[in-house]
Amino acid sequence: NWTTGNIVEEQVERIREQIGDARVICGLSGGVDSAVAAALVQRAVGDQLTCVFVDHGLLREGEAEQVERDYVAATGVNLYVANEQERFLSALAGVSDPEQKRKIIGREFIRAFEEAERAIIAEAKAAGEQIKFLVQGTLYPDVVESGGGEGTANIKSHHNVGGLPEDLRFELVEPLRALFKDEVRAVGRQLGLPEVIVGRQPFPGPGLGIRIVGEVTAERLEILRKADAIGRAELTAAGLDNEVWQMPVVLLADVRSVGVQGDGRTYGHPIVLRPVSSEDAMTADWSRLPYELLAKISNRITNEVDGVNRVVLDVTSKPPGTIEWE
Ligand code: XMP
Repeated sequence: NWTTGNIVEEQVERIREQIGDARVICGLSGGVDSAVAAALVQRAVGDQLTCVFVDHGLLREGEAEQVERDYVAATGVNLYVANEQERFLSALAGVSDPEQKRKIIGREFIRAFEEAERAIIAEAKAAGEQIKFLVQGTLYPDVVESGGGEGTANIKSHHNVGGLPEDLRFELVEPLRALFKDEVRAVGRQLGLPEVIVGRQPFPGPGLGIRIVGEVTAERLEILRKADAIGRAELTAAGLDNEVWQMPVVLLADVRSVGVQGDGRTYGHPIVLRPVSSEDAMTADWSRLPYELLAKISNRITNEVDGVNRVVLDVTSKPPGTIEWE
């Protein structure tokens, strides 16, 4: 009888057996998998767990707070926050090429995580303790995809910035290895995690960094964050979160077009809405969102977000388009 309650109890039991009284660390990305994996480990071994959240400044509006405040309130985890917004911005300065951006973000993420890790290891050492385990939110589909056996750190490194390279210093704890995404969400709800985290749409590891076509700057992130928040709020208000797999909102930072607002000419940037329906992100179709909803999002974005004077809809399926623009 495979119920969510059983999964939680069984995993908690297993985690306790594996970890004993050692200490363990876990990286939180803001996504569902790491949040649920960490919450299970917290349930099992409490304060032996320290979570690390590297805030790269490329998350959407409110997401860092959801981890730092709401997730901590719901789970009681020890959280180590590394505020690295400046670091990522300087590493990304002058870079427009998408693959280059991914590489830089991935590299800086690993460095920042390792620095946090060293600080936590030092702190444990001072207390006469050792960090022996690293939690990862590996799901069953990841295990199958990589053909990995027990204990394999199967991280699609280029495809998941939350993932870390196999670190031989630590033994892995992977409490979600037998689960599919919907089961992970059910477990998260059972553990009382915030719905904004548990129900979150897929979001790329490099975050908003690959939703700004052009160089990533603080001002551009600010613009995109506002536009994205409006798109998400209106999609949710229309009750369409479950119809839409994900809706990237993209800033064409290197494009400008002429507009008119009030009595003045504007020369601003376009925002692209990219709502798609999909089963697994391998293929996708553009979502036929109601015109009224599109009109509302467009009006709000052009009225409320300075620097944006045009909103366009992406009506390309995948293939030939990818879901993300970069
Ligand atoms: P594409 O754009 O390739 O995206 O159609 C397919 C799915 O993968 C996500 N995606 C990424 N996820 N790191 C990630 O963790 C990445 O670099 C990355 N690029 C795309 C995308 O959001 C979609 O769900």
